Amino acid sequence: MSKKLIAGNWKMNGDLASNQALLEQIAKGLVGLNAHAAVCVPAIYLAQVQALCANTEIAVGAQDMSQHNSGAYTGEISANMLKELNVRYAIVGHSERRQYHFESDQTVAAKAKQALANGITPIVCVGETLAERQAGQTQEVVKRQLSVVIHELAHCAGEIVLAYEPVWAIGTGLTATPEQAQEVHASLRAQLALAVKHPERVKILYGGSMNASNAAQLLAQTDIDGGLIGGASLKAPDFLAILGAASALAK
Ligand code: PGA
Repeated sequence: MSKKLIAGNWKMNGDLASNQALLEQIAKGLVGLNAHAAVCVPAIYLAQVQALCANTEIAVGAQDMSQHNSGAYTGEISANMLKELNVRYAIVGHSERRQYHFESDQTVAAKAKQALANGITPIVCVGETLAERQAGQTQEVVKRQLSVVIHELAHCAGEIVLAYEPVWAIGTGLTATPEQAQEVHASLRAQLALAVKHPERVKILYGGSMNASNAAQLLAQTDIDGGLIGGASLKAPDFLAILGAASALAK
């Protein structure tokens, strides 16, 4: 595992003018850094962002996508539509989708399969709620979430990016300690090892209040291959500081 992947998840934020300003600053600051950068943006801005990132090192991602090919699914966006815009990544199974849009483990797995079938790398999110952590169910929950994806993808499971995002750490300012995160990442890697030949090649990102001051410690953990960054991805200096921390750790 060499370069780390730092992916921004803008969520429902941005506008045409601020997107442009943010991306110009990121593109400039990225020059010379030894890390992969991506931004997962609202679907309506994908064309704008793709055009702005065309001659940069920033990869473009979607925040969700349909599990279906095409048809009567009002409001949905297909993997093929994303592919036409050269979208490289699609987040699937973010906890906000699971929670507010009632996405099941099966739906998330179907979306991951659909993404791969169209040449898009799914960033598959798993993570426990606070109640689940307090009940000692963290390992059980993330294992169940990942196992449905592994089952659906079979030998292609090694082509995903995985993101461990403890729900209690998302947008709350509470971060998993590097040790807590590493423990879960190691168990996810061990689970992948049962399904794929080269589990070390699967990037496992940590997400949940990663910021400029805690990134270096988290990213230094053996099984943390990058970050999925919400709030801190909306400010160029913060996002670049995380990319800088990742760059310093690149092997
Ligand atoms: P946060 O969000 O960095 O704002 O906690 C992370 C995410 O939801 O992907």
